[in-house]
Amino acid sequence: MDALTALHHRVSITKLVEPAPDKEQLKQLFLAALRAADHGNMQPWRFLVVEGEGRVNLGKLFAQVARASKPDITGPELERFEAMPLRAPMIIVSIACTRENPKVPHIEQIISAGAATQNVITAAFAMGLGAVWRTGDMAYDMRVKKALGLGVNEELIGYIYIGTPAVPAHLPRQQNPETFFSYWSQE
Ligand SMILES: Cc1cc2nc3c(=O)[nH]c(=O)nc-3n(C[C@H](O)[C@H](O)[C@H](O)COP(=O)(O)O)c2cc1C
Repeated sequence: MDALTALHHRVSITKLVEPAPDKEQLKQLFLAALRAADHGNMQPWRFLVVEGEGRVNLGKLFAQVARASKPDITGPELERFEAMPLRAPMIIVSIACTRENPKVPHIEQIISAGAATQNVITAAFAMGLGAVWRTGDMAYDMRVKKALGLGVNEELIGYIYIGTPAVPAHLPRQQNPETFFSYWSQE
């Protein structure tokens, strides 16, 4: 798929099945991530790939944290947390790694990591894979971040659920660019 087609048509796909991206596809996704705009060449990102048994362990971690947050949590609620990472054969955890830089504010580094994450989901779509960017409480909880090895200078900016689409990609809703784009020329 050419770049403009992917950019114009990418949609999230939430029904994802095996197989997960293979090694070559994963490499293509990583190369796409690394081409995000990046002020000062900070490379303010890193990614964790979670697959197979790792997803089961991630689900256990989610359930453990959910129980610690809400001691009277019900069994079905716990099961929901445990099952979350099983919604795709692979999860790529996207992490923004920020550093002090007088020329590159914190927000720019977070944006850049977000752009890298967007590149991953767009590249996935271009290759016929399905992906969806998710966050939620489990992205921001300190205990989850610590268990995944994030440092104090790091933010978990997304869980990219990725795999083979179980359903065809739907057409994106029509947008009118004029709603969001206008011209400015005032002196
Ligand atoms: C930072 C970020 C976090 C998101 N977190 C979630 C989430 O936790 N759950 C969810 O259903 N969608 C989440 N989304 C939105 C989806 O990834 C998706 O973009 C949205 O459902 C619109 O669908 P589309 O990508 O097909 O246009 C998030 C998007 C971004 C950019």
